[in-house]
Amino acid sequence: MENLIQLVNKIQRACTALGDHGEESAMPTLWDALPSIAVVGGQSSGKSSVLESIVGKDFLPRGSGIVTRRPLVLQLHKIDEGREYAEFMHAPRKRFTDFAAVRQEISDETDRETGRSKGISSVPIHLSIYSPHVVNLTLVDLPGLTKIAVEGQQDSIVQDIENMVRAFIEKPNCIILAISPANQDLATSDAIKISREVDPKGERTFGVLTKIDLMDKGTDAVDILEGKSYKLNFPWIGVVNRSQADINKNVDMIAARRRENEYFANTPEYRHLAPRMGSVHLGKVLSKHLETVIKSRIPGLQSLISKTIIELETELNRIGRPIAADTGGKLYVIMEICRTFDQIFKDRLDGIRSGGDK
Ligand code: GDP
Ligand code: NA
Ligand code: MG
Repeated sequence: MENLIQLVNKIQRACTALGDHGEESAMPTLWDALPSIAVVGGQSSGKSSVLESIVGKDFLPRGSGIVTRRPLVLQLHKIDEGREYAEFMHAPRKRFTDFAAVRQEISDETDRETGRSKGISSVPIHLSIYSPHVVNLTLVDLPGLTKIAVEGQQDSIVQDIENMVRAFIEKPNCIILAISPANQDLATSDAIKISREVDPKGERTFGVLTKIDLMDKGTDAVDILEGKSYKLNFPWIGVVNRSQADINKNVDMIAARRRENEYFANTPEYRHLAPRMGSVHLGKVLSKHLETVIKSRIPGLQSLISKTIIELETELNRIGRPIAADTGGKLYVIMEICRTFDQIFKDRLDGIRSGGDK
């Protein structure tokens, strides 16, 4: 049976196809009802590095200034064997095996929506990666919080980004991956500031501490990692990503993961925390958590999907028999997807009730 995370992925893609990505739309509640994990943090806090580490691949656009200007819905699919590849929802028939081309396509697709303005847009880009080196997981990469616009960008972009991030993470179904750099005072972390606003008790926030290797000599992150500096419901996870020099030298991601594990295991201050540190651990924790949350939401999702089917049927009756590729055709396809889910969820729920899940 299909993995629950993948099922939710499909509904998410269907929502985007219908123009529903959490704003005003035909199905205003379905997207919001789907649990998702959003990555937030200040510019240069290490968000892209964390995502690439979790994926084990180098594929995100980088550079100075505001690089991420549209949400990137990143769906990871574990495959048993074979060569890793990527696919975009906006180019369904194209398989990318060259991840430098993936990076270029994210950048091009960002510009297609935002034009030359270098502005931001809340219309997501959907990217799926199939690989033996990933866990099943969906993460939404959001633009980095920043204080200043760069040349050619409107001054309002700073506030626009903050508003977009807040709109995503204030939804109760959003799990927040809050990225803070260890070489900066935690009290000034943009990620902590904004996540505290929407999740004051830290009930749905995962704290990730990057750049531990860059801390001043004589200081360490033990208090933060043990949850003594800022308490969250889930344990903090420390990571050591590739430095800029490593990136310039093209240090392999899989080798970087190995080196990261060695760092925690061999640094006396962190040795006792080593089993729950690093990006591989982070990916596993998030995958497991996402699956648990989805499972707990199945009954609610199911009734929402039933409602959506009824709404779509009404709409289809109104516009008449669908002709492929027009709006009606699209609605029809989405209704079929919803029907499939309805059935799968029912089967799945029975499985869970009878204790036969997995
Ligand atoms: P983003 O703007 O939040 O996406 O940040 P990036 O992932 O692009 O990282 C910004 C810079 O910090 C890059 O030069 C990274 O190589 C570097 N960096 C990120 N995380 C770490 C880390 O854990 N250790 C070290 N040494 N450098 C890091
Ligand atoms: Na920050
Ligand atoms: Mg980035």
